[in-house]
Amino acid sequence: MEEKRELSLKHMRILKTELTRFLMTYKFGLDELNTKIDILKQEFQYVHDYNPIEHVKSRIKTPESILKKIYRKGYELSLPSIKENIQDIAGIRIVCSFVSDIYKLSEMLQNQKDIKTIKCKDYIKNPKPNGYQSLHLILQVPVFMSDRVEDICVEVQIRTIGMDFWASLEHKIYYKYNKEVPKHLTDELREAAISVAQLDKKMENINKAVNSFKEADNPEYELQEIFIDDKSFYLPDEFLRVW
Ligand code: GTP
Ligand code: MG
Repeated sequence: MEEKRELSLKHMRILKTELTRFLMTYKFGLDELNTKIDILKQEFQYVHDYNPIEHVKSRIKTPESILKKIYRKGYELSLPSIKENIQDIAGIRIVCSFVSDIYKLSEMLQNQKDIKTIKCKDYIKNPKPNGYQSLHLILQVPVFMSDRVEDICVEVQIRTIGMDFWASLEHKIYYKYNKEVPKHLTDELREAAISVAQLDKKMENINKAVNSFKEADNPEYELQEIFIDDKSFYLPDEFLRVW
């Protein structure tokens, strides 16, 4: 009896080490993508004097939630099966101001040499029946470990502030009613999603108008463009101070 308990304790310890090591690779994958996103954000801000990213959140699925998904979908319970079948263990949500920023960012990420696009679901062009909108990417990044390279999948959701607002409320309602939401609320949510899409379009148009005004009539803006095109590029003071 005691021997059996010892054995199962040993087995549990091995399992825990393996699972921790496995989940660490997803944390590194997230770190890598987060760095890439942060670089795009800083560089974009500097070159275009404009920040396309409102905020970024990331998360790793808990072991409990990974196991639940494995059972729910009927996949084999093993680390290789988890790695192959669960592509949202690591997740990043990027919230942008404008729909055009979503596609710009998505392209900039997908065009990076070490990123491979595994899946792209455009719920903006084709919203879900309940009204949900977002751009979903499954991106694969190589993570260089001490003894091997692991290709890690990260789910990236890119949406506007309005889409994010809608999704958080819908998520809250869905769980409050234990997944059985009354029809009048699902109808209102669908209408709200249409309003979000209309507002996003309006904001995009206003922003476009403002940008074209800057380019045509603001000499300071033109000067900055020439400056960058000429490549007479100097780092601003705040970059140099750290040295
Ligand atoms: P899962 O197997 O549940 O991850 O879904 P899937 O493989 O069909 O992926 P999909 O790209 O459709 O959705 C992945 C994630 O997007 C979800 O885990 C949510 O975070 C988000 N999402 C998708 N649909 C909805 C929705 O209707 N409402 C809200 N609030 N979020 C959604
Ligand atoms: Mg998911």
